[in-house]
Amino acid sequence: MFTIKNHLEIRNAHLIIGKVDTTVLAERYGTPLYVTNESRIVENFMAYRKAFPEADIYYAAKANGSFAILRILAREGAGADVFSYGELYMALLAGIPHEKLLFNGNSKTDFELKKAVELGVKVSVDSRDELHTLSEIAQKAGKDVEIAFRVNPDVSTKTHPKISTGLRTSKFGIPSEEVVSIYREASVLPGISPTGIHCHIGSQILDTAPFREATHKMMDLVEKVAALGIELKFVDMGSGLGIPYKKDGTQTPEPQDHADAILPVFEERTKALGISPKLILEPGRYIVGDTTILLAHVNTVKKAAKNFVGVDAGFNLLIRPTMYDSYHYAVVANKAASPPGETYTIVGPICETGDILAHDRALPRIEKGDLIALLDAGAYGFSMSSQYNGRPRCAEVLVKNGEAEVIRSAEDVGDLMAKQRLPSWLV
Ligand code: LLP
Repeated sequence: MFTIKNHLEIRNAHLIIGKVDTTVLAERYGTPLYVTNESRIVENFMAYRKAFPEADIYYAAKANGSFAILRILAREGAGADVFSYGELYMALLAGIPHEKLLFNGNSKTDFELKKAVELGVKVSVDSRDELHTLSEIAQKAGKDVEIAFRVNPDVSTKTHPKISTGLRTSKFGIPSEEVVSIYREASVLPGISPTGIHCHIGSQILDTAPFREATHKMMDLVEKVAALGIELKFVDMGSGLGIPYKKDGTQTPEPQDHADAILPVFEERTKALGISPKLILEPGRYIVGDTTILLAHVNTVKKAAKNFVGVDAGFNLLIRPTMYDSYHYAVVANKAASPPGETYTIVGPICETGDILAHDRALPRIEKGDLIALLDAGAYGFSMSSQYNGRPRCAEVLVKNGEAEVIRSAEDVGDLMAKQRLPSWLV
């Protein structure tokens, strides 16, 4: 059985989230259903807050951009890392102030840059080309825009190659050896104030050593930039920690370990330089990953080459297992106290062989109508969902103090048609 992390428990053989019975939620709202526990979001955010009392925490909105979740974090005082105008728009609407936002991205449109300038949002610039476009846009608007450069610190991380971003060959960032020259260039460009430096080495990192290495490398760059006479006001070190999806008891680092790994380096190096830039971190997964479960009903059980359990959620709603071979712990939510009876492979309804949510899991005996919960679905779950195979997206529910409320209604077939038009000759 999984290690119960605060907000998940088993009562009367049912899986409970935030004091609410998942079988009651499934009955009331139908499945598939994303269920998020508010108090766990706050706990996770506070863990980062407490470990880094002097830093600003810019929640990575891409992890879960649902409006209620952005609003909860806004109220806790989070800033946000936004990667599109859509994320920027939602973050501002949720109440995150413009001065606590960083507009990231390796391929922003001119429209997005204009919006950042207009709204007074800092921009993380990813190329020389972008720098010049932004300078022109800021000049035309008669404004000065604060920028950081996203730098590529060339740090290797033990994570899935598709989410490792700080390697030399990744599409992100300015190569380290060009950093000094680009700051020099930026410092004389009209409309541009180079005030920060930014990196992000990858996601789902469960070892603090790469974060420490990246801090050393970033501080080397800060020192070189300082030698140009540019005093940086912020150093943004990117993502937060990964989370223990497997529940096999392996000890994984917590925000305090993250802080112990990087703060001594950051503090020592800034002190030596006689500067006091603000440290910024952009955790996404750690804040929301374990706050949410995806509930799905069993449509069919089939004995073939494997014991296949067909549920009503597939990679249309949770693409991580298909895309990154990710592991999400599965619980039979209505039989959560029963011992394992068989080995099952849980599959979705999508017309693709790769639509597998969980491979070869020892679970209680499963039959049609049972309720499966996939844990740790809060980060890059709903936010990466699609309508593939003509499947409207499901609802999201938020639980707080034992009460549940819908924070996003389920789509229906009308939503599949909402933006479609026939050309005149087909009407
Ligand atoms: N900052 C930047 C610039 C990022 O690109 C990301 C994530 C983060 C912060 C947040 O990283 P976190 O704290 O969540 O590790 N879809 C993948 C993960 C993609 C991560 C993209 N960037 C997954 O499901 O594992």
